Amino acid sequence: MSHRFDGVQALTAVNLHIAPGERRAIIGPNGAGKSTLFNLIAGAPPVQTGRVWLHGRDITHLSVPARANLGVGRTFQRNNLFAGLTSLENARLAVQHRERINRHWFKPIRGFTAVHTAATAVLQQVGLAEQAHVKAGDLAYGQQRALEVALALALNPRLLLLDEPTAGMSPAETADMIRLIQSLPRDLTLLIVEHDMDVIFTLADQITVLHYGQVIHTGPPAEVQADERVQGVYLGGNR
Ligand SMILES: Nc1ncnc2c1ncn2[C@@H]1O[C@H](COP(=O)(O)OP(=O)(O)O)[C@@H](O)[C@H]1O
Ligand SMILES: [Mg+2]
Repeated sequence: MSHRFDGVQALTAVNLHIAPGERRAIIGPNGAGKSTLFNLIAGAPPVQTGRVWLHGRDITHLSVPARANLGVGRTFQRNNLFAGLTSLENARLAVQHRERINRHWFKPIRGFTAVHTAATAVLQQVGLAEQAHVKAGDLAYGQQRALEVALALALNPRLLLLDEPTAGMSPAETADMIRLIQSLPRDLTLLIVEHDMDVIFTLADQITVLHYGQVIHTGPPAEVQADERVQGVYLGGNR
């Protein structure tokens, strides 16, 4: 894909192939085009040049909800929670949303129990079972980010886009989030935009380095770390 904003060439002929079940990190300096790439895969803004395929299907012109229906899930860098509702209520809404985008809404309403069970399961999955009845606004920051992941999981994604999942976290919260991401099913494909190098090198199978909107390297962590060009433009002495 290539993408232009007004006078800015944000992406130039970026070509990614991400295998099912792969955990791919996108890194690069500020302004490299990471968020733009991420947003184009999620479905907004519309793709200008290029194509997006999911499991062999061309989804280039599908809307965000249509992509979600096919299994593209995402978290947002800013909290996307209902602060006045409990963790469980937030999770229930996400599960009900999944039912709607799967067009189950014209079928008999699924019972309270089924929604409750699914919502409880995603809270358990992210380690928030004990916080089920705590209002989202009263959760610790790291728990709020974990709840974000739970809401994305409630939509049953096959590809999960994580937007700086540890941004603003304390070292302890970051360690918890790394454990959470590591515990996700291995067949769930992950695409992670992340600044924290420790997170990247712990989680990623493959790393793609963007620089001025172009891919300068894709490879496993050790290879990316050793690449002179990558060190020159990005890692430098910062690690
Ligand atoms: N909505 C927008 N309007 C205009 N320019 C944008 C917009 N979004 C991003 N850009 C520009 O596109 C380039 C890539 O931005 P971005 O994808 O946010 O980079 P990164 O996430 O790697 O920091 C930057 O030069 C940025 O200023
Ligand atoms: Mg960004």
